[in-house]
Amino acid sequence: MNSVCSVILAGGEGTRMKSSKPKVMAQVLFKPMINWVISAAQGGGVEDICVVTGYRHEILEEHLDGKCATVFQSQRLGTGHAVMQAKDFIKEHIDGDVLILNGDAPLMDSETISNALQFHKESGNCATVISAKVANPFGYGRIQRSDDGLLQKIVEQKEATEEQKKIDEVNSGAFWFSAKALLSALDTLAENHTDASKEYYLTDAIEIILSKGGKAAAFTAKTADVVLGANDRAQLYELNEIARKQILVKHMKNGVSIPCIDGVIISPDAEIGADTQILPGTIIKGNCTIGKECEIGPNSLIENSVVHDGVELNSTQVYSSEVKAGAHIGPFVRIRPDCVVGENVRVGNFVELKNARIGEKTSVSHLSYIGDAEFGKNINVGCGCATVNFNGRDKNKTIVGDNAFIGCSTYLVAPVEVGENAFTAAGSVITEDVPKDALAIARSRQVVKEDWVNKVKPYRWQKKEETK
Ligand code: UD1
Ligand code: CA
Repeated sequence: MNSVCSVILAGGEGTRMKSSKPKVMAQVLFKPMINWVISAAQGGGVEDICVVTGYRHEILEEHLDGKCATVFQSQRLGTGHAVMQAKDFIKEHIDGDVLILNGDAPLMDSETISNALQFHKESGNCATVISAKVANPFGYGRIQRSDDGLLQKIVEQKEATEEQKKIDEVNSGAFWFSAKALLSALDTLAENHTDASKEYYLTDAIEIILSKGGKAAAFTAKTADVVLGANDRAQLYELNEIARKQILVKHMKNGVSIPCIDGVIISPDAEIGADTQILPGTIIKGNCTIGKECEIGPNSLIENSVVHDGVELNSTQVYSSEVKAGAHIGPFVRIRPDCVVGENVRVGNFVELKNARIGEKTSVSHLSYIGDAEFGKNINVGCGCATVNFNGRDKNKTIVGDNAFIGCSTYLVAPVEVGENAFTAAGSVITEDVPKDALAIARSRQVVKEDWVNKVKPYRWQKKEETK
């Protein structure tokens, strides 16, 4: 097997983002750019990854949390210098190939990476630069080819002649190098570096390799998107729009119906089953799995959650929870972390759930709060109920057995347990356990004062008399 690894360049500050975080932490569809690039490398079969950090490196190190190796570049002296920091890492793969990626080009994709590797190997190249034809090449390194189309060098914007500036094939910043050729080119790059004010350009490695008799070529990607980066928030918005539409179209092709894409944002890490319909204003963040034949939206937000088949979520927010098949949720429901909502459950309108398990076919239909609770199956929770789960210091648990009936405006003061088939009377404040099959009434009896209005003559009544 061919040993491959990747060095991702992520030292930059990105001044124009006006952010206190490293540039690669800027998000596209709620996913930091660095994670897009890591996913692309992994999808292209590269597991061993080293990220070169620089500006606010501690933020990036914490974010990566040991999932990738990192090296710190203390001074930003250019892309060539950044790769030099990863020399030891590259040496571990000395007989293999190294993929260099720009941490701020999130739309580089796995397919392009693996196709470029195949080309690199089949051509016996020491270096393969991934290029793309773009409408506006300004700012990018230009791919200079000979009359017979062979790669000669990469010319940076600053150094380009008027003639070279017209070249519309540009460097994406991604390369495949044989590890040996790269290390040797980096040494030459360092030796040649006499002008202290000049950056170490990784792009110069191409000319160096060619001058030593090594093979170098350009692999032209199918779309220009792979080169796109963002230097400010306006460009970041453009990347978001491109990625957003790509992902929506991918789901449509998989059988998901999105009749209107207004306000629909779906993270790249979401899976959605066929015949599910996504309606306007729906945002799906992070890692989510959504089943078949669901109706999601309008105006719903789902984050890091699993939603099974045939679920309806209308104007609902779901965070880090699971909603089982056939549940009808909403409108105006908030499902906070650690909930499991059972099959065919009915929740909402105006209901909040938190750290709650709700058994199948249970119904919590109107204006209720259920937190730190375990509710069984076939329970009916009336309008306006609450678990009183917090006493100012501790969170306590409420347990309700199967087939129970919780009357309207019941407060279940936790810790408390209501047994199977038991009833609570409307307006009850339940402070003690209710046994199975029992009825608990925990409110004062109604008092009726006959002819009270005539005796007391309340203000409202007086007003009516005056106007007569
Ligand atoms: C670079 C390429 C250019 C290519 C373009 C594609 C060079 C000299 N130029 O230019 O040919 O068309 O990318 O986007 O390589 N970085 C570090 N440390 C440094 C400098 C940069 O980690 O000292 C990182 C940056 O954070 C960034 C990446 O390397 O993620 C690219 O650097 P950047 O300064 O954006 O290079 P460009 O000028 O865009
Ligand atoms: Ca750049």
